[in-house]
Amino acid sequence: MKSIASAPGKIILFGEHFVVHGTKAILAAINKRVTVTSTFTDNNTIKVNSELGTLEVPISSSYEEAKSEFRPFVYLANKMIASNQNVNGLEITIDSDIPVGVGLGSSSACCVAAAGSIFGLIKEWSSEEILKISIESEKTIFPDTSGADCTVCTYGGMIEYPSIEKIGNTFGLNLLIANSMIPHNTKNSVEKVNKFKENNEERFSQLCDLETKLIDEVITAMKNNDTTTFGLKMSENQKYLEEIQVSNDTLRDMISYLKEISLGTKITGAGDGGCIIALVKDENMDKVPALLPNDEECFSAKIDTKGVVWSKI
Ligand code: MEV
Repeated sequence: MKSIASAPGKIILFGEHFVVHGTKAILAAINKRVTVTSTFTDNNTIKVNSELGTLEVPISSSYEEAKSEFRPFVYLANKMIASNQNVNGLEITIDSDIPVGVGLGSSSACCVAAAGSIFGLIKEWSSEEILKISIESEKTIFPDTSGADCTVCTYGGMIEYPSIEKIGNTFGLNLLIANSMIPHNTKNSVEKVNKFKENNEERFSQLCDLETKLIDEVITAMKNNDTTTFGLKMSENQKYLEEIQVSNDTLRDMISYLKEISLGTKITGAGDGGCIIALVKDENMDKVPALLPNDEECFSAKIDTKGVVWSKI
């Protein structure tokens, strides 16, 4: 018997980093997915196969002994095995079309799909239960997570986190994602922002208030089908991200190359590398490749509405 779950990657449209400090954020799941397949084995091991390599450890090992990228899987396996005396081994295989370490939710989607797949071996779980366990597993690599990424990967669609209700009118958003090809580490970027906050308490609190106001304005713009304001707010949000120092020259260059054809452009996710997103009118999409350096991958993202899906064969 195989338990298979898949979950989408994500983009953050507004509010990354500030969300860790309690503000709202707008996120959308995208049409790139990770699929996790789990099976029971008799090998007395937990085996994880992924494009990052293979790990095989005795069933009794703790997640803390594993290399960071494997910890969430071992954590989930440990937890499932602890609640099931009869399990003699587990094999977990991860297939993903989400680029790793560039802010598109690869790690959160893995945690969500793995939670659905591993726990799905025992019974069918609600989205709420999958989300709860997936956030616990994400915390094994990134203890300060806001939980926003796992939430959108679980429920899909576009949400104004912490609400899980899907925003209905996304006015056919056509978002371009461009990858700087600079890998980043979310945990390090979040720690850097914590330091900024410690050293600039008053300004950081003002920025959180500004972000909250901006998100309210975005929601109104969406209700009014106002793409121009939506784009302007993306660029305004980028200024706040520049101020908390999660941007760099490469990202700034990419943003400026796309300026003439986009309504708004910003980093998506932790920054310090990774991807930018741009709101580009349909008629300008074919001008994009000529504006970006050849080595920077770009594609347009559609919003995924399904979230986590699970099946058993
Ligand atoms: C990372 O995709 C988003 C951050 O806001 C961290 C988080 O929300 O946990 C930087």
